[in-house]
Amino acid sequence: MSLLIKNGTIVTAVDEYQADILVEGEQITTIGKNLDYKAAEIVDAKGMYVLPGGVDQHTHFSFKYGDAVVRGFETSNAAAVGGTTTCIEFINQLTGKSITESVRKFEQEKVSGIAMVDYSFHGVVTDPTDELFEEIPTLPKQGIPTIKLFMAYKGACYHSDDSAIFRALQASKDAGVTIMVHAENADLIDVLQKQCLAAGKTAPMYHAVSRPPLVEVEATQRAIYLAELAEAPLYVVHVTTKESMEVVRNSYIKGVPVYGETCTHYLTLGKENLSKPDFEGAKYVCSPALRTPEHHEALWEALRKGWLNAVSSDHCGFDWKEHKHMGFDDFTQIPNGAPGIENRLGVLWTAGVETGKISRQKLVDVFATTPAKINGLSDRKGHIGVGYDADIVLFDPKWRGTISAKTSLQGVDYNAYEGMEQSGRADKVFLRGKLIVDEGKFIGQKGQGQFIKGKPFGLCYEGLK
Ligand code: URP
Ligand code: ZN
Ligand code: ZN
Repeated sequence: MSLLIKNGTIVTAVDEYQADILVEGEQITTIGKNLDYKAAEIVDAKGMYVLPGGVDQHTHFSFKYGDAVVRGFETSNAAAVGGTTTCIEFINQLTGKSITESVRKFEQEKVSGIAMVDYSFHGVVTDPTDELFEEIPTLPKQGIPTIKLFMAYKGACYHSDDSAIFRALQASKDAGVTIMVHAENADLIDVLQKQCLAAGKTAPMYHAVSRPPLVEVEATQRAIYLAELAEAPLYVVHVTTKESMEVVRNSYIKGVPVYGETCTHYLTLGKENLSKPDFEGAKYVCSPALRTPEHHEALWEALRKGWLNAVSSDHCGFDWKEHKHMGFDDFTQIPNGAPGIENRLGVLWTAGVETGKISRQKLVDVFATTPAKINGLSDRKGHIGVGYDADIVLFDPKWRGTISAKTSLQGVDYNAYEGMEQSGRADKVFLRGKLIVDEGKFIGQKGQGQFIKGKPFGLCYEGLK
């Protein structure tokens, strides 16, 4: 089967040019001007930007908070209509089991035959035994070159202390496994939460009060010290404050191989949302907490200048009525997380490219190219180039619409960007050469997503092989 995409403007992380793309089978085989090939299918992309399919390196289609479970991979068509063709999912290690077993079990039960976009995995440490640290160097063979440890949730099974993080860093470095951390000081949060509740401060806005910027800054710096001591690279997920970003940037300049991402909502949504009446504020309870415009601006600058290198969704589809209301009388019981996989491209374009905060190339870089590289997928994903998977988005910059839960495929009863006027959208999306979105509508099939093995040394840090 062959496909010729003609007359579009290809955007990569480093350039932008007009050319045609020939796809044979599942891959891009030729890129050139005025290609004259009798393809089985010809698509006219005039007026469209031709972008690589997005790689969302931070998704939670499997997250539990008490009895609340998020919407799963049956809603991954939302990724497709949002121009994301690969997601990288965090899978908790099952107690007493290896990461490999935990990931395979989850894949068999909850992903394989269901996912509508391609996928890869990060392991999440919950049971830091000697066996776990011995397993870490073997993970790249399983196609899982990344592990996350949470520093933020005291009392939760997935919370890790400094010793677990340090040992994971030591175990990972020679094997090229990337350690990721959610950096917030769990002890301080615990004290501040208890003080809020004791003072009768139970509303959603106290989520932000009990998770101020400094708890993130402290943990970010601490994690970097651990990485420096272990002489291992580190990836800090969802950096949300100016000061944490500066800690990442300054440590990198000093020579520590530390990198970081931010997320769509930390660039665009403010903490005032947590004060919305009638418990609507609960929709915006995610961790770290939403910040103020000063932080948003610093994060945009960091993307422009390369101090942060990816934008993820941290997609976490808890319902407002069914799940968030568990914390109606106590904000600490509100499940943390917000949906957003469908909106990453539209919001980045509208709030970033249209306003001149980032260039189109930078959008491609943080939306697709660098996330593919960090997670060891860059030989197949995240770029429009010969030999790459034909994961292609035809982006219509003229389209206008309003974001709403009513028209969303996320399967969640609210949208954190509800009412936002969106400029541009993914008009057509191809997954390995197959059209899965047409005129913005999902037309693909359940189960068409494939597991993509990640390769080690995604951060390509200096001083190591
Ligand atoms: O609030 C969030 N981000 N929930 C999902 C889990 C996490 O911390 O990434
Ligand atoms: Zn997190
Ligand atoms: Zn997350």
